[in-house]
Amino acid sequence: MKNFPGDALFSLNGKGKNVKSDASGNGVMRSVLITGATGGIGAELAHHYATPGRTLILWGRNTLRLTQIATECCARGAVVHTRQIDLCDGAAALTAFEEDDAAHNMDCVVLGAGLSDIQSLEDRTEDPRKVLQLGLVNYATPVTLATAAARSMVERGHGHIALIGSVAGFYEMPFSASYCSSKSGLAFFAKSAAPAWRQYGVKLTLIVPGFVDTPMSQRLEGPRPFLVSAKKAARVIARAIAQGRREYVFPWPFRVLRVVERLLPQRLREHILLRLAVGQTDS
Ligand SMILES: NC(=O)c1ccc[n+]([C@@H]2O[C@H](COP(=O)([O-])OP(=O)(O)OC[C@H]3O[C@@H](n4cnc5c(N)ncnc54)[C@H](OP(=O)(O)O)[C@@H]3O)[C@@H](O)[C@H]2O)c1
Repeated sequence: MKNFPGDALFSLNGKGKNVKSDASGNGVMRSVLITGATGGIGAELAHHYATPGRTLILWGRNTLRLTQIATECCARGAVVHTRQIDLCDGAAALTAFEEDDAAHNMDCVVLGAGLSDIQSLEDRTEDPRKVLQLGLVNYATPVTLATAAARSMVERGHGHIALIGSVAGFYEMPFSASYCSSKSGLAFFAKSAAPAWRQYGVKLTLIVPGFVDTPMSQRLEGPRPFLVSAKKAARVIARAIAQGRREYVFPWPFRVLRVVERLLPQRLREHILLRLAVGQTDS
């Protein structure tokens, strides 16, 4: 069966067979929702989770790419539903989530959609419209969806939610204040919500990537230290989820940097961050 997105279903009779076990002890992950499934990391995660017997609910904006990824996941044996949606509309996203959750009883929700922005060297501030979009897509909508997911998982007594943050959330970056603060906000949300939900059997993992080779980081003008491929990122993200980690920072040099930078005085941090020459191309 194959329709086209809006809210489409792709199937090659995968249902009911060989569902992979979740090593976190929650039994099986029969249904997995991924937002940002059309992106570099999201698409690789979709491929990773596409196995016979599993239902994938893939959200994105780009219809063509959504159809392509759904077809690939379907060929791997998963049942795939797609939804074309703009996460700037948080209320619509919440309604869509409630519909999809009622239909599929989601076991795992990976909230990976995200936007980045870097102020150009000529501009004195970021563009306020982009700042609004970024706050909605990177922070307001994911924490809303995470809460909605937790609410229904708590009723069922199990479930796993993953938020995709960024190492940018560790740094107060003068040229990208909205992006780094949106990711820092997600991290604070995850730290606050994880212990509250865990007591009801719902796990929350904050994924904190460094540079991953996707369209988002390919726009950056400047070095991308410790770059990892999207495929490898998806593999380690899925492993961190399966292990039920609360936070997973990768690749490892960023874990080391985190310790070292805590020793720097604030003024020196600001001095270094102000002098980083990072730009971005338009597409
Ligand atoms: N790449 C990196 O180096 C890196 C580092 C740290 C953290 N991250 C985080 O990892 C996550 C995935 O990023 P990526 O590298 O895979 O980036 P990407 O390839 O640019 O993908 C971004 C994804 O977010 C979706 N998205 C953006 N705006 C949206 C909106 N308004 N409504 C719905 N969906 C929207 C995109 O959908 P469409 O393409 O369909 O529009 C796409 O699926 C993001 O949260 C990002 O902040 C990435």
